[in-house]
Amino acid sequence: MDKTFSRRQFLRFTALLTFCFPFARDLCFALEKEIGKNDGRFPLTIKILKEAYNAEIIAQKHYGSYCQKALSESYDNIAYLFSALEVSEKIHAENYKKLIRSLGSMLKDPEFSLSISDTKTNLNRAAKNELIKITDTYPYFFEKLSAESLDQAVLYCMYSWKSHKQHEEIISDIKRYSGIFFRPLAKKIEKMRPNYYVCEICGATVDERPKMPCEICNYPLAHYKHLKRPEVIR
Ligand SMILES: [Fe+2]
Ligand SMILES: [Fe+2]
Repeated sequence: MDKTFSRRQFLRFTALLTFCFPFARDLCFALEKEIGKNDGRFPLTIKILKEAYNAEIIAQKHYGSYCQKALSESYDNIAYLFSALEVSEKIHAENYKKLIRSLGSMLKDPEFSLSISDTKTNLNRAAKNELIKITDTYPYFFEKLSAESLDQAVLYCMYSWKSHKQHEEIISDIKRYSGIFFRPLAKKIEKMRPNYYVCEICGATVDERPKMPCEICNYPLAHYKHLKRPEVIR
């Protein structure tokens, strides 16, 4: 009889254990650390993947809060955009998390404080941060990753980088309204009926029903998920 305790079996077992005995969580983490121990491969790649993961988590949490702020200011369409970006960032973070764990390294969520302002300021900040990721952060990651050339790491970073380009374009379109007449002009945006779709593989974000396979990862259309509008509670 094969007595090998596979990683998959281990994960199933620990999920069941933590469900039945929540206090066992710490023990499971410790066991997982032992079983999934990194063997020293790809140290620089893991470091960069963790930096990328942190950046995506911080972006995801900010977009979630921007969404709530926009809803509270009655900018429902802008809230919808922020919620789509939140989903996309979560996919990027999950991709990194998967890869970091498969390399046997542990991961901790970053500690940071949210910086939330009014929707006009949040939009400007979002555009600026997306641009920094496109021009600085990801080119830096690509350069560092080239030392160890782990294909999957480069691919996931490429997914994120290209998605951020889409984010920046969509935000910039709306940001054109963020001058001194932001409020009346932003209200015009609220008359539009955007439909956001996000690719669950790469986080590609589009504002209308896609007709072709994903332009970033090339996966079939079925991987695009239509996003519901965030709930308005007033
Ligand atoms: Fe991202
Ligand atoms: Fe995709």
